[in-house]
Amino acid sequence: MKKYLHLIVALSATWALSTAALAADEKPYEITADGKISENAMEGWRTYNGGGCGACHGKGGVGAVGPNLANSVTQVLTKEQFVDIVTNGRSGTMMRPHKTNKRVMDNLDNLYAYLVARGDDVLGPGNLIKLPMGKEK
Ligand code: HEC
Repeated sequence: MKKYLHLIVALSATWALSTAALAADEKPYEITADGKISENAMEGWRTYNGGGCGACHGKGGVGAVGPNLANSVTQVLTKEQFVDIVTNGRSGTMMRPHKTNKRVMDNLDNLYAYLVARGDDVLGPGNLIKLPMGKEK
């Protein structure tokens, strides 16, 4: 039994290391073979605008009345916290719940992907149709 115990400990250590490495590398967006942002982040940009986030968080999430969301998702919040705040809002602030906004609720992952790409400076704050990466080259 002792022999197996060592094996189990070794195996779980390897597993823990590999999942940690995966979590660090894993980005919620991709750059496609032709050098464009993946469709999920593109859809996140559409949702950001369609959902009216820019009215308070500025163009491309740069911040206005509300905080800079590109920084929030890469430096402040976990993904779970992001989902929770967008869904339930922050009581006592201008950040209202969006749980009845179907478009926003259906696109939480896409919104997150877009904002992480902004925070990583892969995307600029611009219009992704006019400027495919949201910034001048
Ligand atoms: C009416 C203005 C307004 C709108 C519209 C709005 N927000 Fe906010 N949001 C705020 C304010 C103000 C805060 C800061 C709340 C506080 O004081 O903690 C905030 C906070 C947040 C936070 C937490 C940021 C952090 O670092 O703690 C997230 C995430 C967020 N908003 C996402 C969104 C998204 C996504 C949308 C669009 C679906 C959106 N917001 C629409 C005003 C707004």
